[in-house]
Amino acid sequence: MPHTTHTEDGSPLIGVGFLGAGPVTQAIHLPSLARLTDLFAVAHVMDVDGGVAADVAARAGARHSTSMEELLADPRVEVVAICSPHKFHATQVIAACRAGKKAVLCEKPFAVSGEEAAEIAAVSDETGVPIVVGAMHTFDPGWLAAEQLMGDLPETAHTLRSSVVLPPNARFEDFATQVFTRPPGPTRPPLTHPSRPEPDLSDLAVVATMLEGGVLGLAIHDLPIVRRFVPRFDDLEVLHAEIVRPFGYVFLLQAGGRTIELTAAMNATWKPDWTFEAIGPDSTLKVTFTPSYVQAGSAVAEFTTADQTTVAGPFGCNGYEGEWRRIAGIVRGTEQAPDAATLIDDLRFALAIADGARAHVLEAAA
Ligand SMILES: NC(=O)c1ccc[n+]([C@@H]2O[C@H](COP(=O)([O-])OP(=O)(O)OC[C@H]3O[C@@H](n4cnc5c(N)ncnc54)[C@H](O)[C@@H]3O)[C@@H](O)[C@H]2O)c1
Repeated sequence: MPHTTHTEDGSPLIGVGFLGAGPVTQAIHLPSLARLTDLFAVAHVMDVDGGVAADVAARAGARHSTSMEELLADPRVEVVAICSPHKFHATQVIAACRAGKKAVLCEKPFAVSGEEAAEIAAVSDETGVPIVVGAMHTFDPGWLAAEQLMGDLPETAHTLRSSVVLPPNARFEDFATQVFTRPPGPTRPPLTHPSRPEPDLSDLAVVATMLEGGVLGLAIHDLPIVRRFVPRFDDLEVLHAEIVRPFGYVFLLQAGGRTIELTAAMNATWKPDWTFEAIGPDSTLKVTFTPSYVQAGSAVAEFTTADQTTVAGPFGCNGYEGEWRRIAGIVRGTEQAPDAATLIDDLRFALAIADGARAHVLEAAA
């Protein structure tokens, strides 16, 4: 990253500060920003691990610290990117809003409880600081094109499907960059390995926690897209919820008169495949996304009616770059911030699925 602070036309670059500098900062956001040096400069990298903060900051040509307060007090930080573990997100979103920053990008999920969501809603109202949640598919040009193509499908669709087949994250992180703090050896142990304890799936609390992890960690990427077809979900019912080994899930849900299928399998051998489908009586939409971490163009959307199939994409960039471009537009005043109420409802939808799955698992055992 260059150390310049202005673009060629003299307008200042937007200063970014990272809270948390693990694989997502290193393998997703820094490569995205490295292509957007006409818009952004990484100003400050904070991680509770001082070594990681220093190494990642050196790679980005930024200053570093181990204190959130120090980063938030840094005037060069205009946009705060929150890439710490889930449980810190809400506190850090709120602190960044209160620090009066120009925008906050928070990795998904931006909170882990309804109470936290309500607190964020209040602070977002009070401070007016725009929040972008890193649900990258919602910024993918392939999905944005699908929204223009799909006519009345949001009203007519009866079935929605999100299907994810991915290798363990480390495979693509290592393709994207050399991740600092990677344990020695060529790869991390596979998902099933003697060094990893097998979860006790006879313990219902373990199953419920794994299901919640699946919803908040992976399914959540596509839940804002599912919600485009299910604006109201007060009648959400979990019909089936199951863990798939080595890591994955199967959920069958009903909400707002729609059937929703969410499936995932993380597996080192199968070809990666990430699709979202909406099926209605007269038309269908299929959006094929690139895997997480992979920056090789956008999703491809196929919209099919009785007469024809229209294909949109692939476009030149994916949702990671899309979310940063949106942030630049918000900071420069040329684009609207996402609606905070929608973001909060998206999170409540995810939490309702996780809660419903827990109740379903306990009821099924009773
Ligand atoms: N958008 C995507 O495609 C995608 C993919 C994977 C993960 N994620 C999300 O990104 C976030 C980060 O994922 P990761 O895989 O890099 O996580 P990680 O846990 O491997 O790394 C997080 C980093 O945060 C640091 N940290 C811990 N506590 C902190 C604190 N209180 N403040 C600041 N830093 C702290 C850790 O030292 C570590 O370096 C997670 O919320 C995850 O859900 C997004």
